[in-house]
Amino acid sequence: MSRPAIDARSFRTALGSFATGVTVITTRAADGTAVGLTANSFNSVSLEPPMVLWSLSRSAKSMPVFEQAEYFAVHVLAADQETLSTRFARSGGDKFAHLALESGIANLPLLSGCAARFQCRTSFRHDGGDHLIFVGEVLEFDSTERAPLIYHAGQYALSARKGGLGKPRSARMAGTFSEDHLGYLLSRANQQFYRPVRQQVHALGLTDEGYSLLCLLTLRHAMTPQEAMSLMGQSANAAAALLADMGDMGLIARKEGTPPRYHLTDKGWDVTLHLMAASKAREADVLNVLGEVDTFALKTLLLRLVREHGADQPDLWAEPEE
Ligand SMILES: Cc1cc2nc3c(=O)[nH]c(=O)nc-3n(C[C@H](O)[C@H](O)[C@H](O)COP(=O)(O)O)c2cc1C
Repeated sequence: MSRPAIDARSFRTALGSFATGVTVITTRAADGTAVGLTANSFNSVSLEPPMVLWSLSRSAKSMPVFEQAEYFAVHVLAADQETLSTRFARSGGDKFAHLALESGIANLPLLSGCAARFQCRTSFRHDGGDHLIFVGEVLEFDSTERAPLIYHAGQYALSARKGGLGKPRSARMAGTFSEDHLGYLLSRANQQFYRPVRQQVHALGLTDEGYSLLCLLTLRHAMTPQEAMSLMGQSANAAAALLADMGDMGLIARKEGTPPRYHLTDKGWDVTLHLMAASKAREADVLNVLGEVDTFALKTLLLRLVREHGADQPDLWAEPEE
């Protein structure tokens, strides 16, 4: 009995459930032209001797060059190199235009900023159906702590370690939050992150809102009371009271005009930079605990949350209107 034919589309979808990194494989044509493509078929083969493999579609424009190439370089892309992946996934053309290249073994074109790089000599080429499998002996490699770019289910993704995290606990009473409730996690994380900074803020006689206003003034340099009110999400009265208090403390000064604008005084800059340094030190603490890869994943997800769920909120990083 013959087996039913495999549906190509669902086969591809099933393969996509295997999360991979993303690489760019480069080499040089006989005439010296740099050639490369994006590939996620990369895998390790042997430790002794050190060997890796990847496969190339027989329809790829770069096939004639790789078939002849004695050497190739594998670049494991870092999480912030998605544009490089897209660039090298286009077929043909000069994919290397305006890229700063390093030169590797046999003048291999090497890209910078990657998570890892392997320079190889082609050992074997195997038939692999509509692909050709290249096995290479690794002659040189270098690697960094950079977070890798991940490819999963046809999309770019990030890796984050689970770190032996136990199951989130449920509340004993029905109807209350569980330990993994997003709102709880965000506010608890914020509370824990800022505790030491807040202590310094309060020791200086400032309120949390006062510190926020100082930080905003480092971004905006001069703010009208109206802007202060909308960026701080406060009522007109609360914003006016805050501006007056901060003025009395000598941290901000008012420049008359229509409308008047507030800016940091020299003392205001000193205090703000001191507190911002404390915040940055806190960030370094988190980095130490979570590591580069997970910190990158955490920041990326928070950035998505802020951008995708805050359309009605003022954009603090927008250029101020003149
Ligand atoms: C994430 C990703 C992974 C890919 N992996 C491979 C691969 O392993 N082998 C392959 O032949 N093509 C792969 N491709 C497709 C090639 O990058 C694409 O066909 C490219 O245009 C080939 O370049 P060329 O025609 O200039 O040789 C991948 C594309 C993406 C976006």
